[in-house]
Amino acid sequence: MKSFNTELNIQTSMTNIFLERIQEICQRVAQTTSLEELYENLIHFVSDACDSSASAFMTVAESGMHNPSFRIGQGTGRFANAAGEPSHEEYAIKVLSEAINRHSNYHDKNAIAFYFPHPENFAVLVYIEVQQPMSDENKKLLTFLNNSVISSIQAHTSAKLAERSNRAAVIALASLAEHKDHDTGEHIMRVAIMTDEIVQVLGELGYYEESITPEFERLISTASILHDVGKVAIPESILQKPGKLDAEERKVIESHTEKGPNVLEKSSRMLDGNNYLLKLAIEVALYHHEHYNGQGYPTQLAGQEIPLSARIVGLADVFDALASERPYKKAWPEDETIDYIKNQSGQQFDPLIVEAFLKVMDYRREAKLIQWTEEMSVKVPHLDNDHRFLIALINQLASAEKIGNRRIAESVLDELINYTLDHFQREELFLEKMGYPDLSKHKRLHNSFTEVIQDIRWQYLHGFRPKINNEILLFLRNWLSKHILVEDMKYTLPVSA
Ligand SMILES: [Fe+2]
Ligand SMILES: [Fe+2]
Ligand SMILES: [Fe+2]
Repeated sequence: MKSFNTELNIQTSMTNIFLERIQEICQRVAQTTSLEELYENLIHFVSDACDSSASAFMTVAESGMHNPSFRIGQGTGRFANAAGEPSHEEYAIKVLSEAINRHSNYHDKNAIAFYFPHPENFAVLVYIEVQQPMSDENKKLLTFLNNSVISSIQAHTSAKLAERSNRAAVIALASLAEHKDHDTGEHIMRVAIMTDEIVQVLGELGYYEESITPEFERLISTASILHDVGKVAIPESILQKPGKLDAEERKVIESHTEKGPNVLEKSSRMLDGNNYLLKLAIEVALYHHEHYNGQGYPTQLAGQEIPLSARIVGLADVFDALASERPYKKAWPEDETIDYIKNQSGQQFDPLIVEAFLKVMDYRREAKLIQWTEEMSVKVPHLDNDHRFLIALINQLASAEKIGNRRIAESVLDELINYTLDHFQREELFLEKMGYPDLSKHKRLHNSFTEVIQDIRWQYLHGFRPKINNEILLFLRNWLSKHILVEDMKYTLPVSA
């Protein structure tokens, strides 16, 4: 009897130790601040729980799929260098498939498959080899860890989804206004990206620390997208007029800074004025044409009286307007645009923001991967223009990675996908019209590229890819330049023949 009690005591205290360990790991899970951080550490959380220094890997599978093949994500031990490779080991496939079929962890003699469902119809799995089978008690305790990881995945994902769906709605709304002005939506996205970059550099320089709160940092670029939303209410005959505007017409255009905020105020009132994104958007829409010296419009505020948000977006907006082609003007060369902004420091623009902008341009120059050159011209101006933008976006992605800002990289990736799809469509339509013989092969090339970048973005967005690394950047650069120089060049031939 005594020995039974002793055994029970030992077992109980071992279970207590295990429970404490699990509690401690759950706490670490709860402290992760993003999906990337969670996934980066997931293998360690799981290994620590199993008290195992053995081999493990993480993988992702569609939930409920049959005959799955598992691509190794992060790995430790003998899987440490296998990232990206498919796992062909029968035993691992068997254990992981069991977990998927049961929608729960699966324990076998030599391995455990942890099963973490994701709200978007796939599951994250961790396969881990164990030295000795786990007691039934401890198996049950491991469900605490599962629950904690699952709720952490849900919390991070829903916060991210909420922000992204806000942004998507904002883009749709702003695109309407943009559409009336000139026909594409890239301007607003470029302004949003530049805004984010300036804010990042202001942070690095230690300027406006009190105003640049984490919330400001997170929402300012989405707010910037709405800067010209008031143009929805301006007649197209004035917006798209190619020649000079008379005083009356100018006044009508300038009224977009009052019409936009009026609309946004309505939404803001619905939320009792408590929505920070709308507050920023109203500031930006109202004041983005104010000048630092008080000579802007509509209220002639000056200096620090102009909200920081509007001072930043105002500069990003002017920069992009000068650097792009418009119906009434050619694009300014980059050095002239930069000179203009430098000269307007303290006049039109806040000197500290000009300083941050110049540093952004330095970063962009340093990160530049590819340059459009005349030899890339397919002799179709609108397609050349598309190619220039695509090249600029790849450079932007490199620059976002260089400054290490995930949010910027995400926006650029979104924009890269959208723009690539739009461009491919325009190009394919053009080829169809000209009766290009190899159209279906050309379409296949486009499609396979689209699939690759969509996959990269999926992994990045869901936190499975911590970085857009050099390998990917070089792949994008090489694909695009080769495609333009070799494949796209083929359709210029019949035209010139
Ligand atoms: Fe404007
Ligand atoms: Fe093409
Ligand atoms: Fe192309």
